[in-house]
Amino acid sequence: MKNFKRTLITSALPYANGPVHIGHLSGVYVPADIYARYLRLKGEEVAFIGGSDEHGVPITLKAKKEGITPQDVVDKYHCIIKDSFEKFGISFDIYSRTSAKIHHDTASEIFKTLYDKGAFIEQTSEQFYDEEANQFLADRYITGTCPKCHYEKAYGDQCESCGSTLNATDLIDPKSVLSGNKPVMKATKHWFLPLDQYEPWLREWILEGHKEWKPNVYGQCKSWIDGGLNPRAVTRDLDWGVPVPIEGAEGKVLYVWFDAPIGYISATKEWTPEWEKWWKDPETKLIHFIGKDNIVFHCIIFPTILKAEGSYILPENVPANEFLNLEGDKISTSRNWAVWLHEYLLEFPGRQDVLRYTLCSNAPETKDNDFTWKDFQTRNNSELVAIFGNFINRTLVLTNNYFKGIVPEIKN
Ligand code: MF3
Ligand code: ZN
Repeated sequence: MKNFKRTLITSALPYANGPVHIGHLSGVYVPADIYARYLRLKGEEVAFIGGSDEHGVPITLKAKKEGITPQDVVDKYHCIIKDSFEKFGISFDIYSRTSAKIHHDTASEIFKTLYDKGAFIEQTSEQFYDEEANQFLADRYITGTCPKCHYEKAYGDQCESCGSTLNATDLIDPKSVLSGNKPVMKATKHWFLPLDQYEPWLREWILEGHKEWKPNVYGQCKSWIDGGLNPRAVTRDLDWGVPVPIEGAEGKVLYVWFDAPIGYISATKEWTPEWEKWWKDPETKLIHFIGKDNIVFHCIIFPTILKAEGSYILPENVPANEFLNLEGDKISTSRNWAVWLHEYLLEFPGRQDVLRYTLCSNAPETKDNDFTWKDFQTRNNSELVAIFGNFINRTLVLTNNYFKGIVPEIKN
C-alpha cells in the first residue's frame, strides 16, 4: 500500500437547477462528510471540496421557461443548496460554483493546454439548427415523436414515456423548442477527446491497477472499456458555459462535463494558494464521492483529461453509491417526488442529525435502498431515543452515583 501524506476529498457538484434532496445527501454528501470528519479526528491533513455545477442545457431551458437568465437560475439554487449543506453540517472546506471567474479561467486554461498539445481531434458534422432563432439546437431543445413508442413529446436525447435513449435525428417530425419550427441540418465544427487512444492506458490503470474499487464502479468501467471507447465531443453550440478559448470557436462553449469536474480544481485554488500540493503532489490521495450515474465521467473522462494535461494526480478511489428511492418509487425532480432538504429543515427544525443518522444507517452502498417515513420514525423512536438515549442516560446516572460525576482513569 502506498503511503499518502494528505487526502483530497471531492463530492459531486450538484446541478444548480433545483434544490438538493435526501438522495443527494445519502449517496454522496453524508458519506463524504463522514470520511472527512473521520480523517480530521485522526489528525490527518484533509481538504473537502464542493460546489455547484452551474452550466449545461437544462439550466438554459429552465431560464427560458421562467423568462429569466441562466445566471438568475443558478444564483437562486446555489444559495438554497449551499444553505442546506451548511445546515446539515456538511463540513466542506470550500463550497464554490462553476460560474465563478476563477473557474472559467481554470477550465479555459486546461482546455487550451490540451489544444496546444494537439490532444483533441477537430471534426465537422451536421447538427440541427433553428433558422428563426439562429442557433444550433442541443438534444434537449428538440422534441418530436418517439420512433419506438410514438409518444409525441420525446426529447432529442431521450423518450420519457418509454425510457429509450435516442439521437435527435431518430425523432419523427422534429420540432425546435425555441420556435416550434422544423429544424434544418447545418455543419458545425467541434473538438473531440479521443478516448479510444487512451484505452490501453485506461485498461492498465483501472482494470489492472484498481481491482480494489467497488464492484459497481469497477464493473461499469470494465463494460465501458470492453465496449470500445469513442472520441467524445468536449464543445457545444450554446451561449451558456465557459467559452471555447480558441479562434474560430465563437458562440461555442465547453461541454458541461468537461468543465464541471475541473470545478474541483478551481474551488481548491479559490480556497488556498497552495492548491498545487493538493492536485500535483503524488503524496496526495484523491477520492471522488459520487452517485452511480457519474461513474464514467469520474473514472474515464476526467482522468483522461488530467492524464492528457500531464501534471495532475489521478483519483486513488471513486466510491460511487447506488440510488435512494422514496417510499418504493424513484426520486424524481420533474415529478416532484423527493424530500427536499430545505423543506425538511422547515418541518423538522434542529433535527438534522436524525435524518443524517437514518440516511447513513440505510445508505445505498451496494444496492438501491428505500427511504420510508415509517422507518425514519422507528429509527428515531427506538434507535435514537430508546436505545441510544437510554445508554447515555444510564452512563450519566452511574457516573454521578458512583464516580461523583467524573469519568475515572483507566486502570490496567
Ligand atoms: N452535476 C452533476 C450531477 O449532478 C455532477 C457533476 S460532478 C462534477 O450529476 F465533477 F462534474 F462536478
Ligand atoms: Zn418512446
